[in-house]
Amino acid sequence: MACFKNQSLLLHQVLQGNSYDVLCGLLKDSREKGKYRLIVTSPPYYGHRHYGNDPYEIGQEKTDAEYIDNLAKTFAVCRNLLTEDGSLWIVIGDTRRRYEKLMIPHKLAQRLVGIGYTFREDIIWYKKNNISSSSKENLSQAYEIVLFLSKNEKCYTNLDGIRIAGNEAREGRNRTPPSHMLQYKPLNESKEKITEILEIVHNARHDTPFKELPTTSEISKAYGYDPEKYCPTCYRKFKRHATRKRIGDHKHYPIFAVCNSNGKNPGNVWEVATKAHYGSEHFAIFPEDLVDIIINFTTQEGDWVLDPFVGRGTSGMVSEYRHRRFRGIDLYAENVSHAIENIRSVKVGKITLNLSDQKRHGCLDS
Ligand SMILES: C[S@@+](CC[C@H](N)C(=O)[O-])C[C@H]1O[C@@H](n2cnc3c(N)ncnc32)[C@H](O)[C@@H]1O
Repeated sequence: MACFKNQSLLLHQVLQGNSYDVLCGLLKDSREKGKYRLIVTSPPYYGHRHYGNDPYEIGQEKTDAEYIDNLAKTFAVCRNLLTEDGSLWIVIGDTRRRYEKLMIPHKLAQRLVGIGYTFREDIIWYKKNNISSSSKENLSQAYEIVLFLSKNEKCYTNLDGIRIAGNEAREGRNRTPPSHMLQYKPLNESKEKITEILEIVHNARHDTPFKELPTTSEISKAYGYDPEKYCPTCYRKFKRHATRKRIGDHKHYPIFAVCNSNGKNPGNVWEVATKAHYGSEHFAIFPEDLVDIIINFTTQEGDWVLDPFVGRGTSGMVSEYRHRRFRGIDLYAENVSHAIENIRSVKVGKITLNLSDQKRHGCLDS
């Protein structure tokens, strides 16, 4: 793989204008077609706030149908700019009219499928620090939706880039399996034998010689499920691609088991705290951590990333930090300057992003 760590090789451009027009302009250049592996963006939400007075500003339409039309036509152009294995990620909130939620993210997703995208996932971005609503009838909005779509059925993904520590493995240790995991009743023909097995398993250390440990079939007799099919600590079903590994420092289950030592799949609920606004900036910014997961999951170093509603440039800053090439677009000149300045600040080290290391600890790490 080419090395893009040399800063001089990185190219960043933030263009000003109505996204739809700028994107159509880009498409006229044949080099832009199929260039971007990731399009990640957070358009203005419908009827939420004004960013300026331009009549082309998205979010100010008279009806939600018009708003969805405008976004759909913008993302239709985006599809042509994506690589064949590229993906589109949209962080989008809903709008409430008194008691009724308009279901904007879902309606948009349906439109995008209609123009050829594959709908892969709607991720719940759970905002742990959400502001509690004063409403007596509606619940506080504690999450936003992140739509994950791909240009074609398959797209580039790297799950190893976003694995997280398997806390549940640690918590689940030394318990009997939950009843729904039991495949058969523990065989209790010889209670003494089973007690003996449980004792060995519970007291064994990572350096206990393997020959002193019970076999998986003896363990399955004691527990009532097959430890070769399910992780004996977190009870998750093993996948075929997982590696066969001895559970070292898991004192209680030092048996051979199949488990992914790089950590577990993060799932489709992401708990990320909202970001405080910077200085006079008033954007509904997405947190760097959120963009970081998306960039690590769906791109490699040197890939091109595009954000058609760039705001203060969060996606560009993370792209710079992760050695991806980036292009952004915003309607307002002031935002474009802000974004360029922010991306440059990351590049020269004036802004340090506090992002977790890509190498995360797995459930089998001590
Ligand atoms: C929610 S903000 C994006 C914030 C961004 N994710 C960040 O972290 O800073 C939406 C942005 O879309 C821009 N915008 C609104 N209508 C636009 C249009 N028609 N073309 C391009 N940009 C537009 C606004 O100026 C605003 O900066």
